[in-house]
Order: sequence, then C-alpha cells, then structure tokens
Amino acid sequence: MEKLHCHNILLPLFLLPLQFSSLLLSSAYTLPDQYFINCGSDQNSTVNDRTFIGDNKYGSLSHGQSTSVQDTNTSKDPSLLYQTARIYKCLSPYELDIVQSGTYVVRLHFRAFSSANLFSAHFNVSTSTRLLLSNFSVQNGSNSPVIKEFLLTINVPKFRIYFTPSRGTSFAFVNAIEVFLAPESFIPSNPPLVTPTGSNSTYNDSLSQLLQIVYRINVGGSKITPDDDTLLRNWITDDDFLLTREAAIIWSTFTGTPNYMEGNATNYTAPDAVYQTAEVLNITNFSKLTWRFNVSKNSRHLVRVHFCDIVSGSLNILHFNLSIYGNFSWLINPYLVDGFKMRVPFKYDFVVDSDDFGFINISVVKGDSDQNKSSFLNGVEIMELMKVSNWIPPTQCQQKKTPLSVILGSLAGGFAVICILLAAVWFGLKRRKAKSAETFDDKSSRISEKDLNLGLKMTFSEIKYATKKFNKKMVIGEGGFGKVYKGTLRNGKKVAVKRSEPGHGQGIMEFQAEILVLSKIRHRHLVSLIGYCDERAEMILVYEFMEKGTLRDHLYGDSEGSTSHSELSWKQRLEICIDSAKGLHYLHTALAGGIIHRDVKSTNILLDEHYVAKVADFGLSKSGPLDHTHVSTDVKGSFGYLDPEYFRCLQLTDKSDVYSFGVVLLEVLCARPAIISTANTVEEVNLAEWGMSWKKKGQLEKIIDPLLVGKINPNSLRKFGETAEKCLKECGVDRPTMADVLWDLEYVLQLQQTAVYREPHEDSTVDASMELQLPVVQRFPSHSFPVDEGDESIVRDDDGSDTYASDVFSQLKIDDAR
Ligand SMILES: *[C@@H]1O[C@H](CO)[C@@H](O)[C@H](O)[C@H]1NC(C)=O
Ligand SMILES: *[C@@H]1O[C@H](CO)[C@@H](O)[C@H](O)[C@H]1NC(C)=O
Ligand SMILES: *[C@@H]1O[C@H](CO)[C@@H](O)[C@H](O)[C@H]1NC(C)=O
Ligand SMILES: *[C@@H]1O[C@H](CO)[C@@H](O)[C@H](O)[C@H]1NC(C)=O
Ligand SMILES: *[C@@H]1O[C@H](CO)[C@@H](O)[C@H](O)[C@H]1NC(C)=O
Ligand SMILES: *[C@@H]1O[C@H](CO)[C@@H](O)[C@H](O)[C@H]1NC(C)=O
Ligand SMILES: *[C@@H]1O[C@H](CO)[C@@H](O)[C@H](O)[C@H]1NC(C)=O
Ligand SMILES: *[C@@H]1O[C@H](CO)[C@@H](O)[C@H](O)[C@H]1NC(C)=O
Ligand SMILES: *[C@@H]1O[C@H](CO)[C@@H](O)[C@H](O)[C@H]1NC(C)=O
Ligand SMILES: *[C@@H]1O[C@H](CO)[C@@H](O)[C@H](O)[C@H]1NC(C)=O
Ligand SMILES: *[C@@H]1O[C@H](CO)[C@@H](O)[C@H](O)[C@H]1NC(C)=O
Ligand SMILES: *[C@@H]1O[C@H](CO)[C@@H](O)[C@H](O)[C@H]1NC(C)=O
Repeated sequence: MEKLHCHNILLPLFLLPLQFSSLLLSSAYTLPDQYFINCGSDQNSTVNDRTFIGDNKYGSLSHGQSTSVQDTNTSKDPSLLYQTARIYKCLSPYELDIVQSGTYVVRLHFRAFSSANLFSAHFNVSTSTRLLLSNFSVQNGSNSPVIKEFLLTINVPKFRIYFTPSRGTSFAFVNAIEVFLAPESFIPSNPPLVTPTGSNSTYNDSLSQLLQIVYRINVGGSKITPDDDTLLRNWITDDDFLLTREAAIIWSTFTGTPNYMEGNATNYTAPDAVYQTAEVLNITNFSKLTWRFNVSKNSRHLVRVHFCDIVSGSLNILHFNLSIYGNFSWLINPYLVDGFKMRVPFKYDFVVDSDDFGFINISVVKGDSDQNKSSFLNGVEIMELMKVSNWIPPTQCQQKKTPLSVILGSLAGGFAVICILLAAVWFGLKRRKAKSAETFDDKSSRISEKDLNLGLKMTFSEIKYATKKFNKKMVIGEGGFGKVYKGTLRNGKKVAVKRSEPGHGQGIMEFQAEILVLSKIRHRHLVSLIGYCDERAEMILVYEFMEKGTLRDHLYGDSEGSTSHSELSWKQRLEICIDSAKGLHYLHTALAGGIIHRDVKSTNILLDEHYVAKVADFGLSKSGPLDHTHVSTDVKGSFGYLDPEYFRCLQLTDKSDVYSFGVVLLEVLCARPAIISTANTVEEVNLAEWGMSWKKKGQLEKIIDPLLVGKINPNSLRKFGETAEKCLKECGVDRPTMADVLWDLEYVLQLQQTAVYREPHEDSTVDASMELQLPVVQRFPSHSFPVDEGDESIVRDDDGSDTYASDVFSQLKIDDAR
C-alpha cells in the first residue's frame, strides 16, 4: 500500500471521510507488501517471494535509537534474515506507518547468535498499550530462530514496537519484523465459548485485541515452512500431541488442490498442504483420536480446527463429532458446508477456557449412528487471548548527558554567558522515574475505581459549592463539551470547573481514560488537573484557575472589546512563548507515544498571576484523527492554526502542534488573530501566509505590534522570524521539534538581552547551536546516538517541576491496539 505523504494532491475537504472509507473497502485479499523488515541489515532477503527489506539503508523505516550487529559466524545459518540484528539499549520504538486500520499479523524473529552474545539478552517487547513478551530470552545454544506471532488490531497511524531490556541486562534485540494486514474476517466474531464442562454460550467480546499464536499444527502432515505458506507461517507436525498413535492412520495420498469455496476456508486460511493431509481414525479398535495441547491454567484460547474430506471416495460418507475436553461436541459434516462438492476445506473456531486444566484436549469421535465410519482432522491452531495485565506503557528514551566539564572547557570569550545560560536550560533538565502508571484497558469495560486517582476525586456537593450551584455568572468559557465555570473550593483555592454536558461527544470511558493520564502529567507549564467528579453521571474536571486568562486577551482585544488587553513587553512575550514550548515539548515526549495537543492556539495558552504561561485544553470532544465529527469540528474550530499537511494526510502529528505554535509565534509578534475574515486584502486573511510573505521580503518589522516598534533588538526579531518560519514549513518533516523551537526561543531571548552586537548576517541561516560553537552538545538523539545502559523507564521532566500538578482535557494519542 502506498504510503500517504506530504506531496500528495490537496484533497477537497468534503472528500476526507469518503477517502478514508474507501481505504477500508478492500477487494480480494492479497498479501500486502508492508512490512517485511530484515533488521540491522544493509541487504534485502527474500522468503516466498516476499522481500524483507534491510532497514539500515532503507530511509523511511524508523527504528528509533538503536544499533545493528552482524553475526561474524555465518557457517550455521544460511539465511540472510538471521545474520543481522537490531540492538536496543534503551527504550525507543520501532515505528511503522499504518495506512489502513484493521487486524494485523505481527511476527517477530529472534535468532541469538553467539558471536554477539545475544543469548544474554532478556527483554520485554510491547506496543504502546500492550505487553507482547515479558522477560523474553532465547535459550543459550539454540541456533534456530524463535518466532513469536501475534494478531492484533491496529487503528492508529503510527504503530510502535518497543524492545526494552530487563533490569540487569543491557540490551534487547530483534532479527526480523513482519507487520501486515490479515485477510478480512481472519478472526471470527462470535464463536462458541467452550469450558471443560461444556458450552452454553457464544463468546461475545472482541477477539481481535491481542492473540498470540501458541500452536500451529499440520495434522498428519510434515512441517510447513514460510516458503510454502501463503501468509509465511510455520506449521509443525502433530506427533508430540497425538495421544494414541496406533489409533491413527496418516492420510497423505491426496496431492491435488483443495476445492476452496466462497464462504468457507480460503487459500489464506491455511496453505494447501494442511488440507492435503490428515490423521484418520482406525476404527478397528478405537472410537476416537485425541490431541492434547499444554496451555496455561485459567487462560483462554481461540482454537481453530481445519477439515477437508480427502478421505472419502464419494460424497456424504463421513459425519462425526469434534469434542473439546470430552463434554462439548460439535457435529462435523463436510457436506453441509461444501455444497456437494468434494474436498472443500473448512474450519471452525471456538474460544476455550482452560480453567484448572493445564491443557486443552481435542478429539474427533466417530458418530454414534455410523459405527463403521471414521473421523479425521487436518489441522489445528491455538492462539492465546492475551490478558490485559497491569501494563505500564513504555516511556521515552533518555538522552545521554554530555559531561558538563567538556562543555565548560569549550566555552570561550563573549559567548560564555550565553553558553552557560543555554547549558543550564538543557542540563538542568531533571530526570524522574516514571510514576506507576495506569492500565490502558483495551476493552470496553469500565476502568475500575482503584485505577483512578482517588486523591483527585471530589464530591458533587463540593463542586456545587465552589461554583455556587453552577451559577451562570460564574461561567468563564464555553466549548463543544459544555461550560467552564470559575469556582472557589472550601479551602479557598480558586479553580476552573469544566462540566461536560450530556450528548457532547464524550463518553464515560474517554472521561475516565483521560483522568488516568491527566493525573499523571505533571508539568509547570501545563494547566494542572486538581480534581474530578463522576458522581451521578456527571463528568466534571477541575483545574487550577489561571488568574490572567488567555494569551490572546493580552495581545489584542476581541470584537467584544476585551478589557484585559495589557502591554506585554517583548521579553515577557518571549518568556510566555518559551514556557508554552516547554509545556508542549513535555507533552510530545514524556509519555509513550507522546501526546499531541491538536489545538494549540493563543486561547489555549493561559497565564497565571505572575504571567507564567501554561498550556491548557487538549480538547474534550475529539476522539481521533480519522473520526468524521473530528474532521468537521476541528477544521472549523481552529482554522488558521491547522497543519496544512492534515488536509493531505488526514493525520495530526506532533509536528502539527509545531505548525500551530508557529502561528501563535506570529500572533505574539503581530498582535492580530490567526484569521481575519474581514481583512482588506486576501493576503491579510491568514496570519501564517501574511507573516511569511513579509518574512520573505525581509520586512517582518513592518507588521509587528505597534507597541513593540523600536523595542525589539533586530537580531532577536530576525531569529524569531526564522523560528516561526521553520515551524510553518509545509511539510511536517521539515519542521523542527518542540525541543528545537525551545532552543531557538531561548536564543532569541538571549539576543534581546545580551549587549553583544553582531552583524545581522552572522546568524541568519545557521542554527543557534552552531553559532554557539558547541559541537559537543548533541542536542537531540539520533538513532546512532549512544545512550546509557539500564536507563529504561525514565521520563524526562523539563524543569523537574513535578510539584506542579498538571493538566487538562487531553487529546490523547496513545497508539495502536485499542
Ligand atoms: C531493498 O528493497 C528496497 C525496496 O524494494 C529497495 O528500495 C532497495 O534498493 C533494496 N536494497 C537492496 C540492497 O537491494
Ligand atoms: C561457528 O559456529 C559453529 C557452530 O556453532 C562452531 O562450531 C564454530 O566454531 C564457529 N566458528 C567461529 C569462528 O566462531
Ligand atoms: C552460553 O553457553 C556458552 C557455552 O555453551 C557459554 O560460554 C556462554 O557464556 C553462555 N552464554 C550465556 C549468556 O549464558
Ligand atoms: C528474567 O529471566 C531470567 C531467567 O530466564 C531470570 O534470571 C531473571 O531474574 C528474570 N528477570 C525478571 C525481571 O523477571
Ligand atoms: C517487563 O514486563 C514485566 C511484566 O509486566 C514488568 O514487570 C517489568 O517491569 C517489565 N520490564 C521492563 C524493563 O519494562
Ligand atoms: C446449559 O444450560 C442448562 C440449562 O440452562 C444447564 O442445565 C446446563 O447445566 C448447562 N450446561 C453447561 C455445560 O453449562
Ligand atoms: C456477553 O455474554 C455474557 C454472558 O455470557 C452476558 O452477561 C453479557 O451481557 C454479554 N455481553 C454482550 C455485549 O452481549
Ligand atoms: C461454508 O460455506 C457455507 C455456504 O456459504 C456456509 O453455509 C457454511 O457455514 C460455511 N462453513 C464454514 C465452516 O464456514
Ligand atoms: C488463492 O486462490 C485464488 C483464487 O481462489 C488465486 O487467485 C490465488 O492465486 C491463490 N493464492 C495463492 C497464494 O495460492
Ligand atoms: C488398524 O488397526 C488394526 C488393529 O490394531 C491393524 O491391524 C490395522 O493394520 C490398522 N490399520 C491401519 C490402516 O493402520
Ligand atoms: C483389536 O480388536 C480385536 C477385536 O476387535 C482384538 O482381538 C485385538 O486384540 C485388538 N488389538 C489391539 C491391539 O488392541
Ligand atoms: C505437557 O505437559 C506434561 C506435564 O506437564 C508433560 O509431561 C508433557 O511432556 C507436555 N507435553 C508437551 C508436548 O510439551
């Protein structure tokens, strides 16, 4: 599937939902190209016509902070796929773009070659929301690859896989990764639910959240390798599982192609070879064939049994029963399903509870009425429904700190002061351990009380007291979700109370999920969540009150003639921008997968009594980038701030926030709204375009806020203009990260304050970091960047200021399987 990227043709807005739905209408399934990855390699490797791309040189694959190793001893494994591995020493994701949501096959290959001592690695493998493998390792001495396969739903644009070393070991590895869309209806929707005592019900929950393949058996046949399977699967023989070998006759005389029929098994359900062989009951002395599969106790598995009557010479001969644990039985009649054709492959699915049994027994039992007739089985697959554990989502990779002495040693002359200040910003960043995080429950069950932060729970009566019974006079804002009230708690603390109104797009689940995350996000420059109330179906969030209101109000009065318009100095404005950039940078990096604000604008930047800026309101009613309502409301709501790439790619990324922040920068400079629909000229309507046209002419000073005229150091202005320009780049990839923006803004502030006079051309094109001649300061991690060992699970908290509880109605972007 072709990846959507920046330069696609601009789509008319009304076509957006249509375009997405057309992606979902798939025609006949063929195995997709994406993703087959030969990790840590320069070379491609081909298996069953499928090319595994070497990810070292293939630019578009994003493998985070990692390195690669090569087996120096290639004498044992001839396959290119297993001669290289990618090594993760800290928490950093392999990241894949997903164009179509659906059920995906995720297959991970691990071959621990001893020349790189890969046997010593113990690690977890996870997505952003689910743990796939815990403390995984490959047994010492095993030369063959271990392959782990999962089926899961991916409905986010970026799918991330994390390989996290366990405590005590220093790295994780992976040799190959496959991630591809499974055939349609690959996972059944409501199979019978079978327990050891029988079955009375169907399984009515979703099966596609996370399944791990445990057994895949070609009954009566031989091993099948990926080269001979349409979906590159491995199948093994049933010898270790068949209980009474002498009761079975191996049937492998059929070599033709099975009669695949519409509505039953396809050639993707299982390869021909599975249906070409079977174990058949020898009725002379036995009445059934039984296979036993060891599984964990009290676990739940999806059991898929494959049949194809290759035994009978004519139609309508064999009817028999499939039995699970002896108490459940299911009639197998090959001619009910085959429309009176011979050798039609078909399969049945069951969800089986293991209760206290450490195994699952599957039998084919000859029918009561057909004493002379046999029974058979062609294949079995057993997949475990992975339990939702108390999974803590991974947190970001830690940047390596460059020793301060090195930097100090390189300082020279008049730059010293600036350097120290800048170094202080970057190296003053404190680390803190990830707080024990929440469960990202992927089912639609309610998040239990114990998961919510009870310390933040408030009674409805307290809130009624604070807002004087939701007095209209206390309303300070209104949005798509409901109203915001000003309030005073009994302890005298001033708060802002957001009360969601029924029917305004937010469900209790989203509300609770938000509290879980929001109560964890703590940052000096994000508005703090103080409490919540979920009594009587109320959905109320309580925030710290921001005395000075929105940034916008201080820049220019709105049409109703705002009274709070104050004369912020250039320095104050820069400090506000820097504060906000810190808040956004934290959002983008602190939690796994990051959080995208999605609605950065001057009304969402609030000021406290000391004019300290905090980012607020991550949007209550938006549920995802591809949601229909989201497309319409958001585009209207924040026109003028919206990333142009959104129209092409239908995706909001952290770089979309950077774009919006660029518009805010211009607002701060020019003191005018992002859109003036009543403007005199077309050019003037959109601030981003207008600002950039003046920037290109080199005359940005002509459109600045009259209050600032003559008060901005020209160098500071120029650097500020360049920073805004970078943020407003058409393509997200060309825009800086919030960390870069923050760095540039700090520099802009220094240029305003420092007396050092420099020729304007000196810093017009180069980065602040280069001008400062600090080559040793590597500001941002690249994938080759060295990292501390054993540094997993550390969240960086800008400012170290986690005493400030934070935030906000969040627009979460927690990727993948939900
Ligand atoms: C590997 O395959 C990719 C995609 O088909 C191609 O772009 C690349 O050139 C190939 N690399 C090598 C070394 O053949
Ligand atoms: C390569 O591997 C084989 C088999 O494990 C071993 O016998 C041989 O000594 C190894 N060679 C080197 C150079 O390590
Ligand atoms: C693996 O086994 C070899 C000898 O068989 C030993 O030298 C090596 O230390 C072992 N590695 C680990 C990680 O246990
Ligand atoms: C991981 O497994 C190894 C043995 O396979 C064990 O020694 C180690 O303690 C385990 N680590 C954790 C964190 O469970
Ligand atoms: C690995 O997963 C286990 C089980 O959830 C967890 O206890 C452990 O902390 C994880 N280890 C790391 C390094 O994340
Ligand atoms: C099925 O339901 C019937 C009646 O509702 C009950 O008597 C029987 O025990 C149930 N069987 C199983 C296996 O739960
Ligand atoms: C699923 O089945 C259980 C009983 O087996 C029932 O209590 C529950 O309401 C069902 N859920 C749905 C969504 O049908
Ligand atoms: C096979 O196809 C027939 C006809 O479409 C359908 O009635 C039957 O349920 C299918 N059987 C299975 C096992 O899917
Ligand atoms: C699967 O069957 C379809 C027709 O039913 C055929 O076009 C396709 O080539 C087959 N695929 C494989 C991999 O055999
Ligand atoms: C079936 O079992 C009988 C008695 O155990 C044996 O004599 C006969 O050979 C078996 N048939 C086959 C086809 O293995
Ligand atoms: C098979 O059954 C026959 C009678 O049907 C009996 O004589 C014979 O001993 C049995 N053989 C075995 C191996 O059980
Ligand atoms: C299943 O478990 C039993 C007992 O725990 C063991 O004896 C048997 O070998 C296991 N079977 C397989 C195929 O691993």
